[in-house]
Amino acid sequence: MRRDIAFLRHGRPVRLRPPSPTLTLLDYLRLGERATGTKEGCAEGDCGACTVVLRRLVGNRLVYQPVNACILLAGQADGAEIIAVEDLADGDALHPVQRAMATQHGSQCGFCTPGFVMALFALYHAPRPGGLDRDRVNDWIAGNLCRCTGYRPIVDAALAACAGPPADRFAAQEEAIRQALAALDDGDDVMTGEQGFFAAPAGIESLAALYLAHPDAVLVGGATDVGLWITKQLRDLPKIIWLGRVRGLDAVEPEPEAITFGATVTHAAALPHLARIDPDLGELMRRFAGLQVRAVGTIGGNIANGSPIGDVPPALIALGSTLTLQRGDATRSLPLEDFFIAYGKQDRAAGEFVRSVRVPRLGADEQLRCFKVSKRFDQDISAVMGAFKIVVDGARVAAARIAFGGMAATPRRAPATEAALRGADLRDPATWQPAVAALAADFSPITDQRASAGYRGAVAPALLRKALTEIAGTPTRHTRVAGIREDADAA
Ligand SMILES: Cc1cc2nc3c(=O)[nH]c(=O)nc-3n(C[C@H](O)[C@H](O)[C@H](O)COP(=O)(O)OP(=O)(O)OC[C@H]3O[C@@H](n4cnc5c(N)ncnc54)[C@H](O)[C@@H]3O)c2cc1C
Ligand code: FES
Ligand code: FES
Repeated sequence: MRRDIAFLRHGRPVRLRPPSPTLTLLDYLRLGERATGTKEGCAEGDCGACTVVLRRLVGNRLVYQPVNACILLAGQADGAEIIAVEDLADGDALHPVQRAMATQHGSQCGFCTPGFVMALFALYHAPRPGGLDRDRVNDWIAGNLCRCTGYRPIVDAALAACAGPPADRFAAQEEAIRQALAALDDGDDVMTGEQGFFAAPAGIESLAALYLAHPDAVLVGGATDVGLWITKQLRDLPKIIWLGRVRGLDAVEPEPEAITFGATVTHAAALPHLARIDPDLGELMRRFAGLQVRAVGTIGGNIANGSPIGDVPPALIALGSTLTLQRGDATRSLPLEDFFIAYGKQDRAAGEFVRSVRVPRLGADEQLRCFKVSKRFDQDISAVMGAFKIVVDGARVAAARIAFGGMAATPRRAPATEAALRGADLRDPATWQPAVAALAADFSPITDQRASAGYRGAVAPALLRKALTEIAGTPTRHTRVAGIREDADAA
C-alpha cells in the first residue's frame, strides 16, 4: 500500500500526499508550485485555458494527453509526467509551437494562449496518419476558447508547427522518460489516509473490496463531472476512489458480434471502435465535448452519472447494449435501459460499480442513425440526442429500437414509436406518420436552459423523419450540414 501519489516533474520523480483528496491539478501547480503560467478561466472544463499535458506510458508507447487541470484531481496525475506551459521553452529558445503562435500572430490578450500552446504541444507529439489539415486542427482545438484573436492564425500556427515529425527535446528524452515512468508503476494500491482519502486501487479485486468497505466514497473515472462538483458546487468529498489505475478496467474487447468496453475506457479510446460499428457513432464521439474532456472522461462515467443528456447511453441503448455491474466479487448484467430508473436514481446498490458495457455490432439488415442537437456544434452538451436502429426487410421496417436523451428525466426508449413503426414502408413517408405521432405518447419533455419543451417536442419527430429519409436512400449531403456519411453517399 502506497500512501502518496507519484508523478514526474521535469523528468524527476515527485511524491505528494495531497492535503485534500479533492486538490485539483491546477491548484497544485498554481498554489503548490507557484507555476502560474497555467491559467484558470471557467473552472469547469469548458475553455481550455488550464490545459496541461500528461505524458503517460500506455503499453510501451508514450502518449501526450491534453487535460483540463481545473477539473482534474492532482491524484489523477499518478504515474504520469506533468508538463505545463513553463516547461516548453528551452532557456531562451521557444518551443516550435510557441514560436509558431508568435510568428503567425496567434495571440492578442494572451489569456487563452498557454492553453492553446499546450493543446498544440500535444498535437505536435500526436500520431498524425494522413497528415494534418484545417478540419483536423479545428477538431483538436474545439476545447480551447479564444475571445479576441480569432482561430485562423491559431490554426495557421498549428499547421506551421506540426508540419513534420516531432523534433524537440521532449522527443529526444523519450527513452529516459519511458524508463522513469515504468519505475513509477509499482502496481501498489494507493491510499492517502484512513478517514478521508484519495485512493487509487491497482486491481479490480482491491477496488471491489475498498468500495464495499467505503460505499460512501465517490468513484472517479475522468472527473469531468465530479471535478465540477468541487469547483462549482464547492462540495466536500472526503473519500475519493479513482479508477484510473485499476488494471484491466480499461480493456476494449472486440468480438465478431459485439465490443465490450471496460468502465474506464476513455471517450478518446472508444471513438475509433464505436466508429467501426457505425460512422454516426464516430461523429457523435467527435462532437462529444472537446479533446481534453474526451482524453480522460470515461464510458463508465457517462453511464453511471445517470444524466438525462449524456450522449453515449441513448446510442448504446438503441444498439441493445448490456451493462455489467460488480459488487464485491459478484457481477450481474442487465439491459442498459433498465439501469436508468428515474432522475438521479440508477439500479446500482451501495458498493456496486459499473464494470463494463457490451455493445452489439449491427447485423446485415440493420441500420443505425444518431443525431446530436446542441446549441453549439462543438464542446456542447445535447439539448436532444436521438438514436435509431432500424431492422430493414426489403423496403419495410421489420423492427426498431429508438432511444432519446434530453426528452425525459433519464435516457429512454420510445416503445410506442417503435411499435408504430413496425411494418412501415420506407418508400412511403405517409406510413411513418403513426410512429412520428407516437413520439408525443412516449415523451413529455421539459423546458430548461438548453431547450424549451416545444422545441424538443418538434425536434424529436424531425430527427425520426430524418433517420427514415436517410435509411430510405436520400444521400446525407441533402440531410446534414456536417458529418456526412460516406457509406450512404457512396451508394
Ligand atoms: C466541458 C465539458 C463538456 C462535456 N460535454 C459532454 C458531451 O458532449 N456529452 C456528454 O454526454 N457529456 C459531456 N460532458 C459530461 C462528462 O464529460 C461526461 O458525462 C463523462 O462521460 C463523465 O465521465 P467521467 O469518467 O469524467 O465521470 P466522473 O466525473 O469521474 O464520474 C461521473 C459520475 O459517475 C460515477 N462513476 C464514474 N465511474 C463509475 C463506475 N465505473 N461505476 C460507478 N460509478 C461511476 C461517479 O461517481 C460520478 O457520480 C461534458 C463535461 C464537460 C466538463
Ligand atoms: S479553466 Fe476553463 S477549462 Fe479549465
Ligand atoms: S488571445 Fe485573448 S482570449 Fe485568446
